Amino acid sequence: MDAGNAAGLEHPDARAGYDALRSRCPVVEQAGVWLVLGHREVVAAATDPVSFSSSVTARRAIPNSLDGKEHATFRAVVDRYLTPARVANLEPTASTLAVEIVDALPRGSTIKTIAQVGMPFAVRVQSAWLGWPRELEPRLVEWVRDNRAATRSGERRRTAAIADEFDQIIQTLLDARREHPAAEATGGIDVTRELMTETVNGRPLEDTEIVSILRNWTAGDLGSLATSIGVIVHFLATRSEVQSVLRTQAYAGDDSAIEAAIEEILRIDDPFVSNRRRATREVELGGQRVEKDARLVLNWTAANRDPLVFDDPDRFDPIGNAHANLVFGIGPHKCPGRALTLMELRVVTQALLAATDHIELATERPAVRETRPAGGWARVPVVLR
Ligand code: HEM
Repeated sequence: MDAGNAAGLEHPDARAGYDALRSRCPVVEQAGVWLVLGHREVVAAATDPVSFSSSVTARRAIPNSLDGKEHATFRAVVDRYLTPARVANLEPTASTLAVEIVDALPRGSTIKTIAQVGMPFAVRVQSAWLGWPRELEPRLVEWVRDNRAATRSGERRRTAAIADEFDQIIQTLLDARREHPAAEATGGIDVTRELMTETVNGRPLEDTEIVSILRNWTAGDLGSLATSIGVIVHFLATRSEVQSVLRTQAYAGDDSAIEAAIEEILRIDDPFVSNRRRATREVELGGQRVEKDARLVLNWTAANRDPLVFDDPDRFDPIGNAHANLVFGIGPHKCPGRALTLMELRVVTQALLAATDHIELATERPAVRETRPAGGWARVPVVLR
């Protein structure tokens, strides 16, 4: 089936559009690109890296665009920074930053969840983790916004220019560390400096490789974290029974139950929509013949709402649905940042719940959905009571 003229993608609510399209076909060709929407098909492609390569652009992205042994080598480096012990070490800082941000918010009047909570929280925790100065915050916020606009434009020159701009920001941070080898980062954590001492195959990481690793953490993940906070707050504001359950769990200090709830909320409304692949050979997927070198887009948002796996995709069931949840992907490229992300999202949720009796949607301004290719919500105005 060709999706070129298929109803679904032009739907004003991208998530509803993917649902409509997937209900007719789990794998659809649109303008020469295969959209993979069914849960079974997304899992099949993501767990078969030999047939579906992650090398999709000329620019080498570490570790995302690598395959096979080279991927495993660099992935091992990235994994070292995202262990449970590292995440636990960062938690007190993340928690303090969350409480600071929430305490500064007004009560009883409308606040912008993503701009006033999501973005500052994501940038501040990331900067604390990487040992970046607080003064960089406005530039990073602006960069994430420009990067999103460039990606949306689809103009290759614009996306290349924005990637170069980021490279310059990072290169300056690397140069400063070389000039002042003894300088201490605020809070004592400086992952950027540690990365500069890493080796792969017995040689130091090159600056371009360090920059690529850091660009990936910043580009994809700051935006995703901020948007995820929007999704969670919107969900809690519209599903008050879930908000009550989370309040009880927060009061009881049940961290793992809150993280399971967050992962389930993100399954229902997954803001990290998709990743690309390239077919390395002619291959059959979801009853379609995909030709060698064809481009594919694995749509996590659609797969996470496939009724063949989640009989009622909107039913909130953190325990029952966990085994099939694809928010953090599957296969060799599955997200190494899952534990870090869930910790960050949990502490900010805990801070919001601890500081309020109730979170509700603002009445005078509606929430606004993101448009394709982004997911989740663009604006989530809420009132904290
Ligand atoms: C809401 C937040 C996040 C979501 C939903 C998310 C989701 C994902 C998904 C679905 C993948 C799989 C990509 C693929 O198969 O091609 C992935 C990969 C990745 N994520 Fe995350 N992620 C998040 C946050 C983070 C954070 C905070 C970090 C690290 C600081 C991170 C680092 C990475 C890296 C390095 C990869 C590539 C792994 C590889 O290619 O082996 N992510 N993420």
